[in-house]
Amino acid sequence: RRSYSVTLLPGDGIGPEVVSVAKDVLSLAGSHEGIEFRFSEMPIGGAALDLTGVPLPEETLAAAKESDAVLLGAIGGYKWDSNEKHLKPETGLLQLRAGLGVFANLRPATVLPQLIDASTLKKEVAEGVDLMVVRELTGGIYFGKPRGFGTNHEGEEIGFNTEVYSVSEIDRIARVAFEVARKRRGKVCSVDKANVLEASMLWRKRVTYVGLEFPDVQLSHMYVDNAAMQLIRNPKQFDTIVTNNIFGDILSDEASMLTGSIGMLPSASISESGPGLFEPIHGSAPDIAGQDKANPLATVLSAAMLLRYGFGEENAAKRIETAVIETLNRGFRTGDIHSYGTTLVGCKRMGEEVLRSVDSEKLVS
Ligand code: NAD
Ligand code: IPM
Ligand code: MN
Repeated sequence: RRSYSVTLLPGDGIGPEVVSVAKDVLSLAGSHEGIEFRFSEMPIGGAALDLTGVPLPEETLAAAKESDAVLLGAIGGYKWDSNEKHLKPETGLLQLRAGLGVFANLRPATVLPQLIDASTLKKEVAEGVDLMVVRELTGGIYFGKPRGFGTNHEGEEIGFNTEVYSVSEIDRIARVAFEVARKRRGKVCSVDKANVLEASMLWRKRVTYVGLEFPDVQLSHMYVDNAAMQLIRNPKQFDTIVTNNIFGDILSDEASMLTGSIGMLPSASISESGPGLFEPIHGSAPDIAGQDKANPLATVLSAAMLLRYGFGEENAAKRIETAVIETLNRGFRTGDIHSYGTTLVGCKRMGEEVLRSVDSEKLVS
């Protein structure tokens, strides 16, 4: 039996609800493939603030670094929104990403035929969309210095941040994107704001340069404002999108709505070596937290990405993805993806149905 250690970071809001479902699905799918998990659960975000006074306790980062992979729910909530920056739940998440060095965040948006009616777009536009946003995750304006609050020459209060990228940061994320595209449909669209921003000018130059190493991949460039529009106008034109930290954050939420709901979008964050971080792209959804309404599928699909990108356990990953599709085929929907003629269920029940689907796969195979 293969055995892996997984650090669970449930976090805040709907985080614990969706992680609990994903953990059970991971265990069951693993057991069918002869895989066993050693889980440990650690606090992060608001939960950690309440417990220890900081959003990323040293013990949590240490446990994450020592494990084979990390599965995170979500962090944040009204309660901590007016905290000082270093005491915000979001700061804990950024410290975790930086601490693990997970610079490449893969966010796939796949429109499933089962959910075509859940999309807010016309069927002809959404149908068949299958794209991957490769978001740079440990650089750019999220981490750039100088940053802070101050006073301008007129004595007025200001807040400021810096968008900064180095050649090595751009080159390594570009390489990940080209490698990803090679295994997909061989197209990379690099999204930037090179008509205005120096950091983007360097970005475009280096992505073009790295692209020379990948003559089999077709590279194009697009300004981010146009990309935001094209994602709604004709999303099928995209295969792999590579972009900086903040544009990737925004464009992936936009892309999620092609699939029907942000509650469907998983992600994998990987480093050069060491454990990966796997999390849904959505947040803690305080508006529905604690009501058993959350869609757990983004986190369940993140667990599949954990198996694939973290451990190379392709069969177990497929098992989870097939079970999700089978559960949708059987008509179960949480509120965010519910449409006429389907069965509305809560987070827990959705999890139970996915488990049932995982088990029935065993019977057919
Ligand atoms: P959000 O993603 O939490 O929620 C946006 C909307 O989508 C809400 O209406 C919510 O109910 C809905 N939604 C999100 N996930 C869902 C799911 N699984 N099932 C059904 N509906 C879902 O974004 P927000 O409201 O802007 O942020 C809320 C908090 O989450 C903030 O504190 C923010 O900083 C934090 N946040 C955390 C992460 C993360 O942990 N990675 C990501 C984004 C936002
Ligand atoms: C995400 C979130 C985070 C981000 C926040 C909560 C720091 O929006 O994971 O997409 O901006 O990266
Ligand atoms: Mn986001």
